[in-house]
Amino acid sequence: MNAKITATAHYVPERVMTNFELEKLVETSDEWIRTRTGISQRHIAAENEATSDLSTKVANSLLEKRGIPAEEIDIIIVCTVTPDHFAPSTAALVQNNIGATNAWGFDLSGACTGFLYGLETGSKFINSGKYQKVMVIGVDTMSSILDFTDRDTCVLFGDGAGGAILEPTESGSGIFDSILHMDGSGGHFLHVPGGGSRMPATVESVQAKQHYIRQDGKKVFKFAVKGMADVSERILKQNNLTGDDIALFIPHQANKRIIDAAANRCNIPAEKVLINIDFYGNTTAGTIPIGMNEAVEDGRIKDGDIILLAAFGAGFTWGSILMRWDAS
Ligand SMILES: CC(C)(COP(=O)(O)OP(=O)(O)OC[C@H]1O[C@@H](n2cnc3c(N)ncnc32)[C@H](O)[C@@H]1OP(=O)(O)O)[C@@H](O)C(=O)NCCC(=O)NCCS
Repeated sequence: MNAKITATAHYVPERVMTNFELEKLVETSDEWIRTRTGISQRHIAAENEATSDLSTKVANSLLEKRGIPAEEIDIIIVCTVTPDHFAPSTAALVQNNIGATNAWGFDLSGACTGFLYGLETGSKFINSGKYQKVMVIGVDTMSSILDFTDRDTCVLFGDGAGGAILEPTESGSGIFDSILHMDGSGGHFLHVPGGGSRMPATVESVQAKQHYIRQDGKKVFKFAVKGMADVSERILKQNNLTGDDIALFIPHQANKRIIDAAANRCNIPAEKVLINIDFYGNTTAGTIPIGMNEAVEDGRIKDGDIILLAAFGAGFTWGSILMRWDAS
């Protein structure tokens, strides 16, 4: 029994921060950010807006689009590295906000690959035959861990959420292959040093800005290009597919140059590659479900289409998923 996506939704906070605004905060330029990353603007959460708020908007929209009451949801998986709290989970907050009284669930920390980890996990619950409707949300409020005095990171990220409902299908469509990886030896290249049990928050750790995300961009770039290209190429090959068979490639949106390199390696022409990094920046676990929902709403994804997803992120984590779209 395959799992297929029967509804998609996304939400981004109202506030838009342009590259020109960042020029006033750090030594950077609109031209540098656009040419090195492809980003023109990003959305930033309001002061009273947290990850569960973004997720709840997506969850309610998913229910409305699917036309089902919240009681029908069996499991809620919230993929995020920026939860509201360590405890309770963001999934529990969403469950309560939408009134999913029959659901259980959990948060899943897979960074930029989070939504792919979530789809894989959710689809296995569907495969088991025990669960009928799994909600998977990819969401990050990156502004909550961004140091707006660090130009190496603050220009790259944004806030946003997207999600999907997974249900069983006997038609052979839906998710039909996945490759997922993790290599913890790359952890220190992209991390948040403080705030966990390794370095609990103290006045000193906060003053030393240990609770913000830090990265060695050059190193991450190198691994991301190789990781995303390898895993995209491999999943096509093992399914006897080529770039021509793919209707749409939805890659994680970290840097347009990383996306172009992966698409080139798989011979996927530019018109089949979803790129929305210009408007949102890198929303971490949010990028793929945001892109997927935009593509569904724009009619770029139709029933029968083969869709390739690929991501690379902190951990390191990376992977790819292939599905045949069948929303009917
Ligand atoms: C961060 C990233 C955009 C930097 O691009 P790059 O082409 O590697 O740029 P470099 O690091 O070589 O820096 C080039 C120059 O720009 C400078 N620079 C770095 N950030 C800058 C900024 N925001 N504005 C202006 N200049 C900047 C550097 O200091 C360097 O100057 P120098 O040549 O005088 O030393 C790129 O490495 C990247 O996208 N990495 C992956 C990040 C990522 O995806 N993270 C999320 C995980 S998926």
